[in-house]
Amino acid sequence: MKLSIRAGLPLRQRVAVTGRARLSSTAVHSPEHRMVMPPGFNSKAAQCTRLTTSEPPRAPVQHESPCTSTMPPGFKAQVGRLDTFELPDKVTGSKGDMALGKALVGAWRRDGIIQIAMNDKQRKLWDEAKAASHRFFRKPHAEKAACVDSQSYSGYIASGEEVTDGIADYSEIFTITKDLDMAEPRVRAKWPCHGPCPWPDIEMKEPMTRYNENLGLEGEKLLQLAEFGLGVTPGSLTRHTRDGWHHARVLRFPPRNATNGKGKEGRGIGSHTDYGLLVISAQDDVGGLFIRRPSQDEKFANWEKSAAGLKEDDEGWVYIPPVEGTHTVILGDMMQYLTRNYLTATPHKVGLNTRERFALAYFHEPSFQAVLKPLEGGCGGLPAEPSTAETTEGVHYGTHFTNMFLRNYPDRITTQRLKAENRYSLLSTPELRTMGALPVLA
Ligand SMILES: [Fe+2]
Repeated sequence: MKLSIRAGLPLRQRVAVTGRARLSSTAVHSPEHRMVMPPGFNSKAAQCTRLTTSEPPRAPVQHESPCTSTMPPGFKAQVGRLDTFELPDKVTGSKGDMALGKALVGAWRRDGIIQIAMNDKQRKLWDEAKAASHRFFRKPHAEKAACVDSQSYSGYIASGEEVTDGIADYSEIFTITKDLDMAEPRVRAKWPCHGPCPWPDIEMKEPMTRYNENLGLEGEKLLQLAEFGLGVTPGSLTRHTRDGWHHARVLRFPPRNATNGKGKEGRGIGSHTDYGLLVISAQDDVGGLFIRRPSQDEKFANWEKSAAGLKEDDEGWVYIPPVEGTHTVILGDMMQYLTRNYLTATPHKVGLNTRERFALAYFHEPSFQAVLKPLEGGCGGLPAEPSTAETTEGVHYGTHFTNMFLRNYPDRITTQRLKAENRYSLLSTPELRTMGALPVLA
């Protein structure tokens, strides 16, 4: 299959790339240069990484990219070549941080997705989390199926259980939401979606918790940098993430076959946007992720009307090949709402490949209790002041999150209990809409 890749993008001044990616840009596309790559370098990955250099722009060319070899069969898409950024250990507001923030925002506005380099610690945490994921999904079905909770949406989701736009997805998932024990006030008060995580064992709990906690730090840094890039007051984004409703999804995708997908052959996860601020993901070397770039012609607002199924079978998808040692970062609905479409949530979908695939998506989110209102216009390019209608009402993140899970899991025990106990009505009470408030228990 011959596919075109977008190789003619203007090359910009290098802002931050991984140490491994500091090769000449010639090496990126010339097979003969692969032989001189440093030991341990994944040549396939390198060819998929757009390196930013000070060289003048090159004319657009058509490539038969080796990266296409990992694209799931049956899909037609461009192959994305992404900038890989290296985040500082700490964001201080230095000139470098300002420049990096602007570059991140620019890349999200252009591509809808960025790559960030894992440091050595993160590579180790990812390897451990991946091993725990393999171990969990190898367990007998009954053992996995027992990992459910009637109060939280944490736990196991069997292949075919998740529904996107009315069609079953064939991903197999372990969801991790805030792990709250039964004595916790919010659990005792029966707040929607609040409850324990039904871990199968400590071998799953510990590496996943370590991995997600580390990405929590990464998420905060990205938001701080995004504030610089947007030109808004520091804290404009991070003030919403105090006790953020961060969560994660451990994912296994079965190999494609003739019957999975219930009428949509080879369907992994249908097109959708995610609900919060940032989605930081790692994937193994199999490949399956597709995204859509921001487009003026594609209007959607998932918090008002579901964007599930959006452009599912249309042209314009970009395949994101696995690049070893990196996380990808896409944007969620709340980032789009806060920035009034200056940064838009990234539509994405997953195709099944010829081999099973493992991935992990971490969601960096506002507090469940946060009521978000659009940011004030800044010098970074945000639209002018928000309208009165936007500022008076706002979006309650907890309600948006609950709506998403009700829609995706109509038959789950958690949904049944939530409805039977009329928990949904609590979402409109003041304590659930005031950050940091705790229920008053009798
Ligand atoms: Fe998603």
